[in-house]
Amino acid sequence: IVFSNSEEGSICVAQEIANLIRSKQAENKVCILGLATGSSPIKVYEELVRMHKEEGLSFSNVITFNLDEYYPMDKNSVHSYYYFMHQHLFNHVDIDPANINIPCGTVSAEDLHQYCIDYDLKIKEIGGLDFQLLGIGRTGHIGFNEPGSHYNSGTRSITLDHLTRADAAPSFLGINNVPKKAITMGIGTVKKAKRIILLAWGHNKASVVKETIEGEITSEVPATYLQDHPNTTFILNDEAAQDL
Ligand code: GLP
Repeated sequence: IVFSNSEEGSICVAQEIANLIRSKQAENKVCILGLATGSSPIKVYEELVRMHKEEGLSFSNVITFNLDEYYPMDKNSVHSYYYFMHQHLFNHVDIDPANINIPCGTVSAEDLHQYCIDYDLKIKEIGGLDFQLLGIGRTGHIGFNEPGSHYNSGTRSITLDHLTRADAAPSFLGINNVPKKAITMGIGTVKKAKRIILLAWGHNKASVVKETIEGEITSEVPATYLQDHPNTTFILNDEAAQDL
């Protein structure tokens, strides 16, 4: 779906998430959301916060799993995705802190493998993701699943692509400050979500959006793995859709 601006697209996505939360509430069920960071979802979170404050949208039945975190990364750092999620969403809504799951950037190297297996297991045991929000990196990554990622990969640690680190460099005041690794939900983890929405805004996403939607399914552009997911929608603005 192509919107003329990211604001309208974001409001539409927030509305879908709010409807899902409310429909689960009506059935007395929990709502399991997979959440993303980056600039793309910021307006979606802003709108959800507005709905909480002005329309009484409650997050009391919501359990969240974030896609990724830099590694190593202290959760109190302003660069952490933990910090980002609290700043943009969690600090402003009534979610139970015990229901927030974000990969931990300080787990020890020897515990990391098991930690990742347990992250996937926790998602599975709770019934799987009802909804997964995604952005897209210019390497074609979703979460931090860089080129070469297997279509069935689970949550794991990954080495970041140079382009990904270069894109993150301004907020870290230089590429040398950007961690070289991250923990990311796998492609297999993401694709088990019942519903997926990917957001892309702006000219600089146009070519990867074209490759993702129109190209062959390939590990070189991991977002192409979404092509055979039965319930995925791309929400774009005119600029991101300009090459389609
Ligand atoms: C990071 C995140 C991704 C995100 C991507 C794009 O790499 N790990 O989940 O999709 O950035 O970021 P932005 O939305 O700022 O363009």
